Amino acid sequence: MAMNIDEELLSRSEEETENFAAKLAARLAPGQAVLLRGDLGAGKTVFSRGFARGLGCEDTLSSPTYTIVQEYLLPGGARLYHMDLYRIADAGSALGFGVDEFLDDPRAYKLIEWPERIESLLPEGCVTVEISHLGDEERLLRVKG
Ligand SMILES: Nc1ncnc2c1ncn2[C@@H]1O[C@H](COP(=O)(O)OP(=O)(O)OP(=O)(O)O)[C@@H](O)[C@H]1O
Ligand SMILES: [Mg+2]
Repeated sequence: MAMNIDEELLSRSEEETENFAAKLAARLAPGQAVLLRGDLGAGKTVFSRGFARGLGCEDTLSSPTYTIVQEYLLPGGARLYHMDLYRIADAGSALGFGVDEFLDDPRAYKLIEWPERIESLLPEGCVTVEISHLGDEERLLRVKG
């Protein structure tokens, strides 16, 4: 699933980040995993909200911190898994809750916050979004995949 994506955006607002994410989502196929890298408060969940909207998701995406994985049904029957692995210690405990079943679902889009926790389990062909906090509302978004 090599996409040949190599893009950057200097975002100056939450809305710009969401719109960029929505456009990216519309270009990706079901099954695609997207890794969201960046510090606490960088904008990974904001990006995810835009991404879900770009897939036509009608529910408002909220932070899955306490549920680890939040599942959304998309028009057309595909699914979106939004994972927040911040509280997961390592690959072993992620396997403990069955993360592989989510990762292996060929019909689902996967958005993964804190993929660092499961580096050894990540599939090939992921799209990576790196978000750097530059200022109050300034973020540098780099997309590769
Ligand atoms: N340009 C921007 N893009 C995205 N978010 C922005 C931007 N400017 C300001 N923000 C703010 O930054 C915060 C980003 O929060 P968000 O929950 O998305 O971070 P996160 O990376 O998911 O953090 P965590 O690791 O805690 O889950 C929000 O409060 C948002 O309003
Ligand atoms: Mg988050």
